Amino acid sequence: MKPSATEPLPYPPLFEAILARRSVRAYAPDELDRNAVQTLLNAAVRAPTAMHEEPWAFVVVQNKPLLKQLSDLAKPFFVERLHRTPQASSHVIDRFADPAFNLFYDAGTLILICTKLSGPFVEADCWMAAENLMLSAVAAGLGTCVIGSSIEALNTRVAKEKLDIPAEFKVVAAMIVGVPRGETAVTDRKPPFVLAWK
Ligand SMILES: Cc1cc2nc3c(=O)[nH]c(=O)nc-3n(C[C@H](O)[C@H](O)[C@H](O)COP(=O)(O)O)c2cc1C
Repeated sequence: MKPSATEPLPYPPLFEAILARRSVRAYAPDELDRNAVQTLLNAAVRAPTAMHEEPWAFVVVQNKPLLKQLSDLAKPFFVERLHRTPQASSHVIDRFADPAFNLFYDAGTLILICTKLSGPFVEADCWMAAENLMLSAVAAGLGTCVIGSSIEALNTRVAKEKLDIPAEFKVVAAMIVGVPRGETAVTDRKPPFVLAWK
């Protein structure tokens, strides 16, 4: 189909997936099978990649006790970070400090996008791969949530050892994936703020 300047968007299924994406924080116990995860990884690597470096490497964690250990490891790091963040409310800090709170919301699958490269666009590539993965998940009826609060801790030596991530790799992006439990309300967005259009 030839794109038209007068019609809103030429690819409605993709736009539907974009509008349907939510940060899902409640998951059904269903496990994702390897084929489903592989499909998401295949979508991730179709992201644009600066200088065609394809800098990404993936870690898939589906071991629930290990996910709980990683959550327990990461929470104090993030609480410490929040204490140094002027706009962090005590309500948010208390939530992350609660021993019962699971940073990964009891999702059964955590996917990390890592890199051992450095350069101006390496992290951009990894985050683009993350968005591809998350939109593909939505199209497959799955839910996702970026768990940025885990990333600092996942880059510690102890976490990398638990995950068999070689020292030269850095975790750039972390997201959970699973079958959503119930509906997640849409969050608002401001209209696009166009700074210039010349
Ligand atoms: C870089 C990044 C880090 C995020 N980290 C977390 C996180 O640690 N925990 C969480 O519950 N949500 C996290 N989120 C999700 C945001 O809170 C969410 O995208 C935002 O509230 C908008 O909601 P929506 O994604 O449902 O539209 C993160 C999102 C991004 C882009």
